[in-house]
Formats: sequence, C-alpha cells, structure tokens
Amino acid sequence: MLTDIFGSDVSLETPAAVDSWNKMQLGFLAHAAVTPTHLADVLEREPNFALGYAAKGLFCMMLGRKELVQTALEAEQAARLALKNVFSTARERGFVEALSLWLAGRPIAARDRIEDILQLYPQDSLAMKVSHAISFILGDANTMRVSVEHVLPAYDAHHAGRGYLLGCHAFTLEETGEYSQAEIAGRKGMLQAPDDAWGLHAIAHVYDMTGNAKAGIEWLDDREDAWAHCNNFRYHVWWHKALMYLDQGEIDKVFHLYDTEVRKDRTDDYRDISNGTSMLSRLELEGIDVGNRWEELADLSENRTEDGCLIFADLHYMLALVGDNRDGAIKSMMTRMHKDAKSSKTDMEKTIADPGLAAAAGLEAFGDADYKKAFRNLAKARGTMQLAGGSHAQRDVFERLTIDAGIRSGFLDEAEAILNERKAKRGGAEDHYAAVRYEMISGARGENASALQLPAE
Ligand SMILES: [Fe+2]
Repeated sequence: MLTDIFGSDVSLETPAAVDSWNKMQLGFLAHAAVTPTHLADVLEREPNFALGYAAKGLFCMMLGRKELVQTALEAEQAARLALKNVFSTARERGFVEALSLWLAGRPIAARDRIEDILQLYPQDSLAMKVSHAISFILGDANTMRVSVEHVLPAYDAHHAGRGYLLGCHAFTLEETGEYSQAEIAGRKGMLQAPDDAWGLHAIAHVYDMTGNAKAGIEWLDDREDAWAHCNNFRYHVWWHKALMYLDQGEIDKVFHLYDTEVRKDRTDDYRDISNGTSMLSRLELEGIDVGNRWEELADLSENRTEDGCLIFADLHYMLALVGDNRDGAIKSMMTRMHKDAKSSKTDMEKTIADPGLAAAAGLEAFGDADYKKAFRNLAKARGTMQLAGGSHAQRDVFERLTIDAGIRSGFLDEAEAILNERKAKRGGAEDHYAAVRYEMISGARGENASALQLPAE
C-alpha cells in the first residue's frame, strides 16, 4: 500500500495521485489558496478515493455557509459510494464518519471522531489540523491544546508536518494564556515551516493579548511572504496588523490596511465579514468616523440572515446590520435566531440559544443607543461567549461593546470588573483601549461625586 508524506497508508493507486494528495495536505496546513486545486486533481485521478471526498466535505462545513452544506452532502454520498467500491483503511473511514456526524448537526462528535483517529495515528497531520480547526470553530481551546500536546511526541525532527504542528501548538498555548511558551513554539515552528501563516499569526495574537502592539507590528513587518500564498486567511493576518495600528492610535494606517487589504475583495465569507465588522465597531467605539464603510458589509450581511450555520457568523452579520441601521434585516435575523434557539437540536442551534440570543439582543440595543439594555444582554451572554467560537482577539469586540455599554449606562463598577477580568486574562497587560476606559470610569465617578456635592456648596 502507498503511504502519504506523514507516513499514513492511503488507498490511492498511483504515486502521481499521492503526490497531489501530499500537496493538498501541506496546502491545507499552510492555509494555501491552491489547496482545492490539488484536491480536485486527486479526485480526478482517483474518483474512488473516499478520504478525498471526506476532506472536501469537511472543508465545506468549515466555511460555515448554508449553500455549501449541499456540496458537503454530495461529497459524503460520493465518499460512501467509494467505500463500497474499493478497499479503504480504518483511518479513512473515520474521516467519512466525522463528516456524517457534522452533517447531522454534531460538530463536537465529528471532532471527537477525528480525535479517535489521532489516538491510533498520532502522526496524521491532516487529522491534527482538522481537529484543531473544528475545536477553534467550537471555541474549545482546552481540547485544542490537549489534542496537539497528545500528538507532539509522535513528531520527530524530520516529520513533514512538525513546523505546522508547532504553529498550532503556539496558537493553543496563546488561547490558554501561556504567552511566553506560545511565542517560543511559534518561532520554532516558523523555522521549520516558513509558510505557516497560522503559526506566524499565533505570535501576532501573543503581542495583541500582552498589549505589545509595537512588537506585533515589527513581527509582521517584512514577513508578508509567510501569508501571501494564503486563501482569505491573509485578510485576517492584515486585520491583526490593523488592530495593532489601532492600539497605537495610527488611524490612517488602520484605514489604509482596511481598504487595501482587509476588505480588498469585499467577499461575504463570514471570517472576512468578521474582520471588517469588528474593526469598524472598534473604530466607532473610539469615536472615529468610518465613513460609508458599513454599507457594503451590511449589503452582504442582509443576504445571510437565514444562514444559521454558526453563531459566530450570525453575530458579525448582526454587527454589520446594526452598523448600517438595517432594521428589517435585524428583525429577520432575530426571528430566525429565536426559531433556531427554540429547536436547539443541533450543536449550533444550542449556541444560538446561549450565548447567541442575549448577545444579538445586546448588539441590537447598542445600535438603538439603549445602553442599559445592551449592557444587561451583553453581560448575560458574556459568561458563555467562548462557545461562539473564534479567538480571544476576535471575541474582544463583544467584550469592548459590553464594557462601553456599561460605562455609557452608568454600570461603572460592573464595567470596571469586566475590565479587570479582561486585564487578568492578558497576563496583567493594559492595552490602549483599557487605559482609556479606566480613565473614563474614574472621570465619570469624579463627575458623579462633584454632582453630589453641588447642593451642599
Ligand atoms: Fe487571529
């Protein structure tokens, strides 16, 4: 039997197909734009390769778009047919089962099925990255870290996926608060896999979380080669750089990167929409006029109100709708979310119920300038917000909106408590955002005290 670049048996019949499969796997690990081309080549050469269809279906599900669920279903059917026609390995069948579980609305079980594969085949970098990606979507940082640390001993210095594994390890360490270890792992990984944009970006996360925007900009400067080959993930790396300029108060640079890189292609991929909406929200919280930039995001988001694949996506579409006052679409989105929450059959519907409904109601109220209602709802959602998925840096936009709603509606002690928790999560680092809010709170307390003293004077 032929083996792939990571030493796994594959039921492919020709070395040329294995070569394309290896390129596909390395492309997936590097977030390369060319990955689907390699996958299509494998399936064209060997249309009975069940694992190829399973990978295609899983990749479609990761994109979080309702219209791609049908494509994933067709991939699952092709995989099942291939399993009947030709011999397959237990590892390959495991991937097909994981796809079926996700299609049945059970991404947690799908991830666990991939973890079963890793118990038997810890050297399998495809399974490692798929598990990592699903746990990321689920906001499950602990499982993400345990998964990587379980397979680390199986990667010797010559393993072709070792650099990418270290990049994933760096990200899991960062998301679980181990900032210095994360930076070491990330830098080691980049030496072995210079095109590992994920590992590079894990280090950007470290600088974001530790309030060191200057070092973050220096880290990303002149390293464009590490993410130029990427699919839309490259917009996200630019977003990180723009975030650092925001922290530095270099707003012209933020808008320049926003217009020329972050929203260069104006796609409606939910991750691209999340980069755009969360940046505009942050800018507006700093009192900066963002011009008509909400409009294109809201136009695209209006078409996604019935999607419901991921609450993370829904909440960012909602930011766009609120940002451009699209009342009709906001109503449609809320109605659909209430329907999904009532159903609560799938893993994602459960997250729409909690934290989704309270978070969305909070965003809507913020848009209506009802800061008291916004604070109450956003603070309620905050306890389970991690279940919405994504990273700490991405969810920070909701944290900022919660704190600002609290300050604007006079919940000063509560807002300060959230700021303190936010600071503790960042290893005690205080970024520009936090420093300004602490000043606002003490200023508001001073004004209140003066107002109280007035009648006595
Ligand atoms: Fe990120």
